[in-house]
Amino acid sequence: PSLEKDLLPLYFGWFLAKRDEDSLRKTSHEFLEQLGNLKAFKKRLLAYGYEDKHKLDLLKHFAKTPNILHCTAKFCDYGKAVGSEEYARQEVVKKSYSKGYTLHITALFATPRTVGARLELTEEQLLLWPLDAEREVMPKDSFPRGSRAHITLGTAAEVQDVQTGIDLLEFIKLQQAGREGESLGELTGSVAGKVSYFDNGMWMVNLSRKIEVKSIFSGYYG
Ligand code: A2P
Repeated sequence: PSLEKDLLPLYFGWFLAKRDEDSLRKTSHEFLEQLGNLKAFKKRLLAYGYEDKHKLDLLKHFAKTPNILHCTAKFCDYGKAVGSEEYARQEVVKKSYSKGYTLHITALFATPRTVGARLELTEEQLLLWPLDAEREVMPKDSFPRGSRAHITLGTAAEVQDVQTGIDLLEFIKLQQAGREGESLGELTGSVAGKVSYFDNGMWMVNLSRKIEVKSIFSGYYG
């Protein structure tokens, strides 16, 4: 066997620049604080496993936060994941490696399991998005490409990060079925936007002003 075989990473993705990463962590805190303080939220704690009227500290609920904020493009598991080599071999992947990209956050969401940022990928970014990324986790449904694109901001204890993208697709599935969610207030400041509630503890704020973050496309080897 050749020693020169390329090593495949745990995953390929867009990694936030330090300054934007710090600021997005603050934005995430702000989101959870404002959401947790909404009257409508306090009345719907059951889905989070708490009695109504109990004060839920969402910052504590989402006990785990990723070490490096990023948007996973292709999960390779060091080559064990289906399609990893084919993905890594693509010219566009090689050409884009270590290039800078601006990511566009359009919404923030929280479920009893995860908190995340929804991304709107550009045409250029979609070239790096695997064709089966959505089907991989929800084979029975069809979604516009890039629907699963997200940044995991936190998870409840015992929940895997991969759940964040699944939760996001769950929101989009409801929206595709014509459910816009119950309009239950507004957030202000850096997280300004309308709050929608989709049952089962699923909350989303559509940002009035998209948040842009700088990132580098690269691989994480862990
Ligand atoms: P996400 O992209 O939602 O944050 P882990 O630490 O569990 O090995 O995951 C490393 C990264 O790869 C995380 O960012 C995680 O989720 C993502 N990830 C894990 N498993 C998968 C998968 N099956 N498909 C896509 N992304 C995954």
